[in-house]
Amino acid sequence: MDHFLYRDGILHAEDVPLPEIARQVGTPFYVYSSATLERHFKLFQEALGWTDHLICFAIKSNSNLAVLKLLGDLGAGMDVVSGGEYRRARAAGVPGDRVVFSGVGKTREEIAYVLEQGIRQFNVESEPELLAISQIAAKLGVSAPIALRVNPDVDAKTHEKIATGKSENKFGIPIARARAVYAQAADLPGIEVIGVDVHIGSQLTDLEPFAQAFAKVRDLTLQLREDGHDIRRLDLGGGLGIPYERSNSAPPLPIEYGKVIEESLGDLGCEIEIEPGRLISGNAGMLVTSVIYLKKGEGRDFLIVDAAMNDLVRPSMYGAYHDIVPVIEAEPGTVAQPYDIVGPVCETGDTFAKARNMVPLAADDLVAFRSAGAYGAVMSSEYNSRPLIPEVLVRGGEFALIRARPSFEEMLARDTIPEWL
Ligand code: LLP
Repeated sequence: MDHFLYRDGILHAEDVPLPEIARQVGTPFYVYSSATLERHFKLFQEALGWTDHLICFAIKSNSNLAVLKLLGDLGAGMDVVSGGEYRRARAAGVPGDRVVFSGVGKTREEIAYVLEQGIRQFNVESEPELLAISQIAAKLGVSAPIALRVNPDVDAKTHEKIATGKSENKFGIPIARARAVYAQAADLPGIEVIGVDVHIGSQLTDLEPFAQAFAKVRDLTLQLREDGHDIRRLDLGGGLGIPYERSNSAPPLPIEYGKVIEESLGDLGCEIEIEPGRLISGNAGMLVTSVIYLKKGEGRDFLIVDAAMNDLVRPSMYGAYHDIVPVIEAEPGTVAQPYDIVGPVCETGDTFAKARNMVPLAADDLVAFRSAGAYGAVMSSEYNSRPLIPEVLVRGGEFALIRARPSFEEMLARDTIPEWL
């Protein structure tokens, strides 16, 4: 459930009518609902209420500082995958001991920086990374808490570009090799082994792959304990999917996911950590855009809107589906018609939807893309020299610009022409 509802025929974000935001900030823009972010975070808290846990929001899904501050203030930890994301977590007021560092390519600079500034744990993805952390920690005279990310070779049954738990993927250490690498880790200076980490993919709409992966983590944990390691924390990654197509999908709920965790791992006495991104931020955000032109094509009508693939790349990158709805509700009984909904970028791939049934729309009408709060703004670019679009956060009847639209001057000012030209 989210807080984007029609009232008197006008789509609202909580108590704010979207046309009001459009008037003040212009289109296109992203808008997030505080109440929805909070609700989704609390669903995970309830789902893991049976045990000691930390919910580490996957910053990669939405990294706006205001969003991070809101979640951090509720007690969230953060899952980061770069020095930049680490700095965002800290700038939003999240202490280092609530930040976990994942990712296959942590640089030596990033490792040293987070060790100096404070980190809850490294999720280590390879032996060379383990050695690098050991060397750097020993040199700094500190101890680095680590979990090894194991690759359980489980099919997450999701889009191939966002599946991470198969042996052919670049992520994690093959689970069959894990015991040997843990033995190596235990002997290294500057390393404190504390747990096991797994993340098998994103937008999972079935709990079975989770259950399979968790069963493997369970076996491994028991074995590692027998080997003498003090495994006291399990990081189970993120990945729970959301209903993009409201009419025909109902992915499992956090409470059901929490039950699978409890059934698989509940008796081990470990602290549970999870790293959800999409389920917290996805349906907490919309992309609002205006129709520029309605263009008659050969046997089809194109709705050309002022948002494009550079603002929301998911449809062109993954063929992803987003519900697209008019901001002003049509009269009951209005007959829908099919549109190809496209942006202004000069690529055929700049297509959000083909033959999508919509009520009749005209130039200047506002339309909203649902489920755009995760992997939306964070994946945007300035392709075609289109400045990044603003982000707005709503709370009840108020809203604030949480990222301003850069001016064309600001965009141009980042380039320099060498004096010899
Ligand atoms: N933890 C790790 C280690 C991850 O790699 C990811 C996502 C997450 C947590 C969060 O997963 P979530 O709960 O959001 O599913 N850009 C793609 C999604 C890429 C996901 C990458 N990793 C998309 O737009 O669908």
